[in-house]
Amino acid sequence: MSLQTLFPTQIYRSLLPLAFRKRWIPSLVKETKLFRDLDDEGRAWSREHYYGGYTSYSSITDLAFRSSGFADLKQWIDREVKKYASSLELDLGAGRLEMSALWLNTMGQGCHHSFHLHPLSTISGTFYLQVPKGSGEFKIEDPRLSSFMASPPRKKTAKLANLRFFSFIPRVGEMVLFESWLKHEVTANQSTSERISVSFNYDWIPARA
Ligand SMILES: [Fe+2]
Repeated sequence: MSLQTLFPTQIYRSLLPLAFRKRWIPSLVKETKLFRDLDDEGRAWSREHYYGGYTSYSSITDLAFRSSGFADLKQWIDREVKKYASSLELDLGAGRLEMSALWLNTMGQGCHHSFHLHPLSTISGTFYLQVPKGSGEFKIEDPRLSSFMASPPRKKTAKLANLRFFSFIPRVGEMVLFESWLKHEVTANQSTSERISVSFNYDWIPARA
């Protein structure tokens, strides 16, 4: 008898080392609020498309080039993405993975981000700067969900690998990485404080000719 687990969905979670959490996070939170204050275009876009929150997704996506603090964070993220790509055994040929966007998210009371994916990118993720109690979960769904027909639900006690949905409450200084095709959502912030994070995409860049 043999039972094989095929086509696993791997997500990668990593905690920024304590010394850096202490040194970087308070200033990155401050910077986030400064960028938000300066970003008229992003605040206007968010009023239309991001109820109860602010995101620089449509306006400022090059944070690592605007701020030395976010540039330092990017260097750490780059290293973690390399480890994740290695675990996925990606064959990039002569190409490489490169961060294509890094943007800010602040989610006030009631703000949520429904299921979506990040088209055209290879690896995406989020790093958490402020996570008040009750400010929502990061939730992913089984990517095969749309193919299920007469497939029964799984037991409440099912092993992690057999679940159809998985969610967790991130910690401050934690990062989650996933393949960009994986649908994910952030459930509603039910606290009165803001949840603050930065999100990013890495694209597969072919070798230069
Ligand atoms: Fe996302």
